[in-house]
Amino acid sequence: MPSLLSADFANLQASIETIPSADALHVDVMDNHFVPNLTLGLPVVEAIRKVTPALLDIHLMIEDPDRWAPAYAEAGAESVTFHVEAAAAPVRLARELRRLSARAGIALKPATPIEPYADLLPELDMVLIMTVEPGFGGQKFLDLCLAKIARTRALLDATGGDIWLQIDGGVSVETIERCVEAGADSFVAGSAVFGAADPDTMIATLRELATPPGR
Ligand code: DX5
Ligand code: ZN
Repeated sequence: MPSLLSADFANLQASIETIPSADALHVDVMDNHFVPNLTLGLPVVEAIRKVTPALLDIHLMIEDPDRWAPAYAEAGAESVTFHVEAAAAPVRLARELRRLSARAGIALKPATPIEPYADLLPELDMVLIMTVEPGFGGQKFLDLCLAKIARTRALLDATGGDIWLQIDGGVSVETIERCVEAGADSFVAGSAVFGAADPDTMIATLRELATPPGR
């Protein structure tokens, strides 16, 4: 799914209209504390909600998600993901998001292991593995995260249920197949999509590469 981080912030609606085949939009919320960058917050997400029926996938790179995350579900986002490094009570927060009818996701920075969260997986609808340090688009994919993706796949298979395994950071035609092989099934691409001559065609290309033969 395309990340709006690389879209035109002065013309978000026009940017969204360049990607009509996107079934979901990834929205990066940054607070200049959890990450050294500041993007957008709840009022902008509310405005985006009004102009698109696409699934809104909110990636919160903020401190104190326990306090701020539920409002994004209330604003109509179908998926809300918070960083485990920032959450005080991830189980309580995930339950609150689900109570508000959103999918609940946890995100892990490159140095954060999945194993401490293995027992939490039944409480979740998505695990987002960052393959760059969060904060900026256009960074190089970190291959060192591939082993964690594979370990997470195994834990998710053992857990069962419909938990998405999302990869975010440096996803492109060069790197997406490595993520598929490691077991990911949801992919975020910012600069690869919005930096392409035709963003909508790039989505189709990435989708094809992400679909294993026979599916
Ligand atoms: C980075 C964000 C990503 C970002 C990815 O902190 O979470 O969603 O938009 O951008 P690319 O695809 O350019 O790495
Ligand atoms: Zn993101």
